[in-house]
Amino acid sequence: MLFIKIRRLQQQKKQLLNLLHIRPQVSQVSQIFKYNYSTMEKMEKEEFTPIAKSLKEYIKNNGPISIAQYMREVLTNSKSGYYMKGDVFGRKGDFITSPEISQTFGELIGIWFLTQWNAQGKPNKFQIVELGPGRGTLMDDVLRTLSNFKECYRLIDGIHLIEVSPELRKIQRIKLCGNNIVEDNSCRRIDGLKFFWHNSIEEIPEIWSMIIAHELFDALPIHQFQLTENGWHEILVDIIDSELSPYHFQFKLSSEPINTTTTSSISSLLKKIINSNNNNYKFNIGDKIEISFESGKISTQIAKHIHNNKGASLIIDYGKDFIQGNTLRAIKQHKFVHPLSLPGQADLSANVNFQYLKESAKNLVNTYGPITQSKFLQTIGIKIRLEVLLKSTSPDRHESLISSVIRLIDPLSMGNIYKVLAFLPKEESQLPPICFD
Ligand SMILES: C[S@@+](CC[C@H](N)C(=O)[O-])C[C@H]1O[C@@H](n2cnc3c(N)ncnc32)[C@H](O)[C@@H]1O
Repeated sequence: MLFIKIRRLQQQKKQLLNLLHIRPQVSQVSQIFKYNYSTMEKMEKEEFTPIAKSLKEYIKNNGPISIAQYMREVLTNSKSGYYMKGDVFGRKGDFITSPEISQTFGELIGIWFLTQWNAQGKPNKFQIVELGPGRGTLMDDVLRTLSNFKECYRLIDGIHLIEVSPELRKIQRIKLCGNNIVEDNSCRRIDGLKFFWHNSIEEIPEIWSMIIAHELFDALPIHQFQLTENGWHEILVDIIDSELSPYHFQFKLSSEPINTTTTSSISSLLKKIINSNNNNYKFNIGDKIEISFESGKISTQIAKHIHNNKGASLIIDYGKDFIQGNTLRAIKQHKFVHPLSLPGQADLSANVNFQYLKESAKNLVNTYGPITQSKFLQTIGIKIRLEVLLKSTSPDRHESLISSVIRLIDPLSMGNIYKVLAFLPKEESQLPPICFD
């Protein structure tokens, strides 16, 4: 019966996919780079957002900035950065994420961590850590699931949330703690569980940890480089005053190529990443690549924590297992906009390079995957979970429950582009963890 329903709904997939936008796939992204101003028509300049004003001033005084600097400012500027707005998720926001689509997502992540807690000898005290927790929905679903396993749940020592946005911290606190005892950057809920907020994973206590990062890495700043006959140039963001563009900024190649023979951090990292490109792809003139040094740094920090304290980590995001170029995108109210449009009012993100995350972690932990979200969720039992949910809910909710699950696992929707990478301690992980074998 369930499978007949699934098949029927799969036939309606096109309509279902149109319900709400997920972050786009690369083929769609390339469309937004087809903007050109060759029509020579004058265009009305778009409004100046607060970030556009301050960036224009900065570039006027200091010269063009890297895309990474631009992204950092646009997304996390403490006054008017995009994530400071607070709730940017769901139908009324700009985009929707897996935990917001279906409760099964967080529940099954909870089950995966439970298997690791078991496999690593049931440590008698542990914490759960989430980087970039959004509305707090994923953590809420993980905790509800673990609370069904009392032997494990009672050993949770604390929940640690790494979040840059004070507005999102408030939303997370209300979701996870209600209005219970609140202190500076922490709260305690009725069942005694304590929640703490931090700016970096380096601030969390040194104990066995379950660490999850869902759609954090795609929001981290990237640098873009382009190969020319003179070598690799960085693509920068400069001002454009011309009325031939509606935007206040434009992309521009750095005047000098990056000198990859020097030991400056950017040149040595660029060289290392290009050389470790495991596809053995030979770059051609005109090729672009994206590198998120910040992603490598955070991946190493997670790996270091697992190395020192044991535990397990899942990194879930969209991207590929190799270096990519030109995937920077902006989304506003579920539609793509130009990445330099209305800075601070649209979400900016880029595909994750999982190979680089693994490279940055492999000396400290064993890495597994990335595998597709579809494989992860199906192996851990999403269909069984769905059947159980259907039995306990009224029939008028069935269609929406089923379509949400299809959306998570369908290769044409989120099933393939979203990937799952796991880190486990070197000593304890001789066998691959569940889903990764
Ligand atoms: C795309 S949202 C994903 C939210 C959530 N994980 C979900 O799947 O619904 C990115 C989250 O990462 C946070 N974030 C962005 N940059 C960050 C940074 N550098 N450090 C910590 N959190 C960051 C944002 O505020 C937001 O909570």
